[in-house]
Amino acid sequence: MSSQTSPIQPLPRHPLSAADVPAVEEEHLTEVERDSLSARITALLRERDAVLVAHYYTSADLQRLAEATGGCVSDSLEMARFGHAAKARTLVVAGVRFMGETAKILNPEKRVLMPDLEAECSLDLSCPADEFAAFCDRYPDRTVVVYANTSAEVKARADWVVTSSIAVKVARHLKERGEKLIWAPDRYLGDYVQKTTGADMILWQGSCVVHERFKAEGIAELKLEHPEAAVLVHPESPARVIALADVVGSTTQLIRAAAELPNPVFIVATDNGIFYKMREVAPGKRLIEAPSGGRGATCVSCAHCPWMAKNSLRKLLHVLETGANEIHVDPVVGRRAVRSINRMLEFAGQSGIAVAGLSGD
Ligand code: 13P
Ligand code: SF4
Repeated sequence: MSSQTSPIQPLPRHPLSAADVPAVEEEHLTEVERDSLSARITALLRERDAVLVAHYYTSADLQRLAEATGGCVSDSLEMARFGHAAKARTLVVAGVRFMGETAKILNPEKRVLMPDLEAECSLDLSCPADEFAAFCDRYPDRTVVVYANTSAEVKARADWVVTSSIAVKVARHLKERGEKLIWAPDRYLGDYVQKTTGADMILWQGSCVVHERFKAEGIAELKLEHPEAAVLVHPESPARVIALADVVGSTTQLIRAAAELPNPVFIVATDNGIFYKMREVAPGKRLIEAPSGGRGATCVSCAHCPWMAKNSLRKLLHVLETGANEIHVDPVVGRRAVRSINRMLEFAGQSGIAVAGLSGD
């Protein structure tokens, strides 16, 4: 059946109940405990020929340690690139499961460990591979583009994988080639990409439980209070929030904006784990967390990803000591998925899009 003749029927949102979203865990450590754990982890990383690859949403302790031990702290695209280029035989991925799986898909010969295998992502959970494959089968003439925040099986069904740092560029490129798209799973990112590029896209209806809670009214009020502020927004946020943004971008792009824009104040609509790096690169600037619950409301996860928060120094030490929590990807699935991931990495390289960390671009 062709998309020309079939009515477009976006799937209803795959619902997540509040029970699917864990409480945010915080690791409380004394300075002595932190130093002792960090020293033991540093020694074990060396002994085990391992490198730590961490996302900006993990704790400051993990980010600091990744940098101090020659690992990397970055957005999801650069995490994939760094892990691929790293010489170490073991990659320890402090982030959420799709990041560990992507590392394994790109490096099947390496051992990939994660501090906590229950570190999920609501976007990944919203897009079961079998339902997604059936959805794609209804539109066989459409190019299937999936966000990195998906399972290995969903990536294996896709033609392209994208991350937030490259999504607009890939969609524009495909539009110029006359291709129509299926986009999954983030409906807000999809909506933003569709409006920005004018591409013909059918959107899966997933969402991020953290970003979808940011409130446009609260941000507008903050803007009135702080007319000198710039608003930095991750594109997993709702359209009304994106409409208020001075900069829309991936975590790396938002951190760079905080460093480079002249504004003395930033209202930041993304996970507050990002503040660790933003403070480092933009010292002296005031960073305000965008309101996520609305006045008087309670949010399930207020500006902090409960799955990213599952990563901790204690768990990291445990996996290095025991080799627990290894990521396995079915080799057949991995061989299919790697094509769509490599397409993105090659596109980034060919277009001269430097997606390296903060010193890149
Ligand atoms: P980035 O690729 O921008 O780091 O985003 C990953 C993510 O999960 C944001 O919620
Ligand atoms: Fe997924 Fe949202 Fe957490 Fe990012 S912040 S990992 S999109 S649930």
